[in-house]
Amino acid sequence: MTSSRAEHDTVAYTIENRVAWVKFNRPEKRNCMSPALNRRMGEVLDELEFHPDVGVLVLTGEGESWSAGMDLKEYFRDTEAQGLAGTRKAQRESYGWWRRLRWYQKPTIAMVNGWCFGGGYGPLFACDLAFAADEAKFALSEINWGILPGGGATKVAVDLLSMRDAMYHAMTGELIDGKKAAEWKMVNESVPLAGLRARVEEVAGVLLKKNPVALKATKDAVRRVKEMTYDNAEDYLIRAQEAANSFDNEGRKEGIRQFIDEKSFKPGIGTYDLAKQKHTA
Ligand code: ACO
Repeated sequence: MTSSRAEHDTVAYTIENRVAWVKFNRPEKRNCMSPALNRRMGEVLDELEFHPDVGVLVLTGEGESWSAGMDLKEYFRDTEAQGLAGTRKAQRESYGWWRRLRWYQKPTIAMVNGWCFGGGYGPLFACDLAFAADEAKFALSEINWGILPGGGATKVAVDLLSMRDAMYHAMTGELIDGKKAAEWKMVNESVPLAGLRARVEEVAGVLLKKNPVALKATKDAVRRVKEMTYDNAEDYLIRAQEAANSFDNEGRKEGIRQFIDEKSFKPGIGTYDLAKQKHTA
């Protein structure tokens, strides 16, 4: 038996001013991730990735929770009852959309409005940027119910936090609030819940003014070079820019033109006007 909410309704989204606001939408279950939600989220990411009206994707939660992690009943108990095939299928469905989100075409922002537990660290890490409410609560609560933080959660903690903070967080399962998450660099910033959406809209607005080809190349580069030697990174970055040029060969030329010839902006303190570019990808 799965919960009564139709699979299609486990995720909700609206598109406003070129921002897709995607919501975990099981508030009655604190937005924990069931196989149905994971499947639907994969479809929604497909629907939005190359949608012409979408420039930025924000991932947030309906109600008082961002995501209470994996659904302990539907993701763990029910799929384990189907044997290894059921477990592996459920893992593919969840890890699959987190991986897609890590390498998403559009810039992504996690807007953490409330509870964020365990498996929720996968999509949290997958988003390029993260903003939390001061009131949000985070924990690697796996240890509290007798497992290690799997599904990438330990890797997320170690990648984002200092070794001591990651170890304490994973071993104690204690809650931290949004302010502490920002202090630990798990999120970019935390602000009072009442101002969270406005702050995220502001950041999305900044991203919407940037060259989209350069943004995709940049976000991929930040994730990729972390694992490379300096020389490998230097080589990758040269080739990544040259590959980006094949999607948009005009952007950087237009940026130089507006600064050097037109003198209409200064790259040190602003962004070139994309609207004047003839061939924006
Ligand atoms: N899995 C399954 N059901 C869940 C989950 C979950 N992760 N989280 C909440 N629910 C369900 C509850 O069972 C309850 O269902 P019911 O109404 O049918 O009884 C409903 O959602 C509401 O939950 P409450 O516990 O009543 O809500 P409350 O606001 O009091 O507490 C809280 C919220 C703290 C988030 C609590 O629900 C909780 O501890 N959830 C589990 C968090 C967690 O540790 N998740 C797993 C992380 S580890 C991992 O993801 C691998």
